[in-house]
Amino acid sequence: MSTVYLNGKFIPIEDALIPVTDRGFLFGDGVYEVIPAYGGRLFRLSHHLQRLQNSLDGIRLDNPHSDGEWKAILDTLLEHNRGLAAANNDQSVYLQVTRGSAAKRDHSFPEHVIPTVFASSNPITDPDPAITEQGVAAITLDDIRWQYCDIKAVTLLPNVLLRQQAVDRNAMEAILIRNGLVIEGSASNVFVVKDGNILTPAKGPQMLPGITRDLVLELAEQHRLPCQETDISEDRLREADEIWITSSTREIIPVTVLDAKTVGQGSPGPVWKTMIGFYRTYKQSVRNGTAE
Ligand code: PDD
Repeated sequence: MSTVYLNGKFIPIEDALIPVTDRGFLFGDGVYEVIPAYGGRLFRLSHHLQRLQNSLDGIRLDNPHSDGEWKAILDTLLEHNRGLAAANNDQSVYLQVTRGSAAKRDHSFPEHVIPTVFASSNPITDPDPAITEQGVAAITLDDIRWQYCDIKAVTLLPNVLLRQQAVDRNAMEAILIRNGLVIEGSASNVFVVKDGNILTPAKGPQMLPGITRDLVLELAEQHRLPCQETDISEDRLREADEIWITSSTREIIPVTVLDAKTVGQGSPGPVWKTMIGFYRTYKQSVRNGTAE
């Protein structure tokens, strides 16, 4: 049975209950993070905590913990669930902060309410080799979401509906298009490769600034691979030699079929192979404790 953290206590998941008046439940009024941990070491924790702070600022909620407190909570949680993970102790942490529970349902912010803080962790495995050897299918859809997609809000109904349309069409991800431009996936960021250049949309309120995305850009720069943050038109997406999607849970996945048409050569491309090599080396250095 896994242990979770809820409002100051480490308890069995079955015992973790919140009041039905919680604003996360009633309004989706909260934010979250997903943080992988390799060998029990949290991957890019400082980047995730900075994004958490930005999300909390975005919804005008005070951060209930300092970075040091967050690290202590999450490290303890990982230790509690170590026995459930494989020998390599790879786990993924989910953490959520909501505006708490007020007596009366009212859209406006309640006064003197304590935020609800929840965190859980689950074992993770390396991406399925079948996926990385063949790549995955994606579809394009209109981005129907709101104008603050840089906030990692728990209010994910549009993302859920978009992802399900992809699944219904046997695809792993929906790549979202707004005003003719590629934005991101329903739960991932998007890269394209054209003539050896790695391209990804620039950050802005229309997309979530992915931690994996930032690392891919860092690795490209460090290894002097040509890369650019720029607008990507829908046409450019369709003409790409390679398409990748990135996220904390999926790492870097090659998309080899887009809207039922082959991408590039129809198999994971050479630039992806180079990048996933750099990424795996980096991941190993986190496991060894020589990188964050
Ligand atoms: N989602 N864009 C969206 C809309 C996302 O939901 C995610 C991640 C990303 C990638 O961000 P990162 O590299 O920091 O994981 C981009 C997480 C994994 C989730 O909702 O489960």
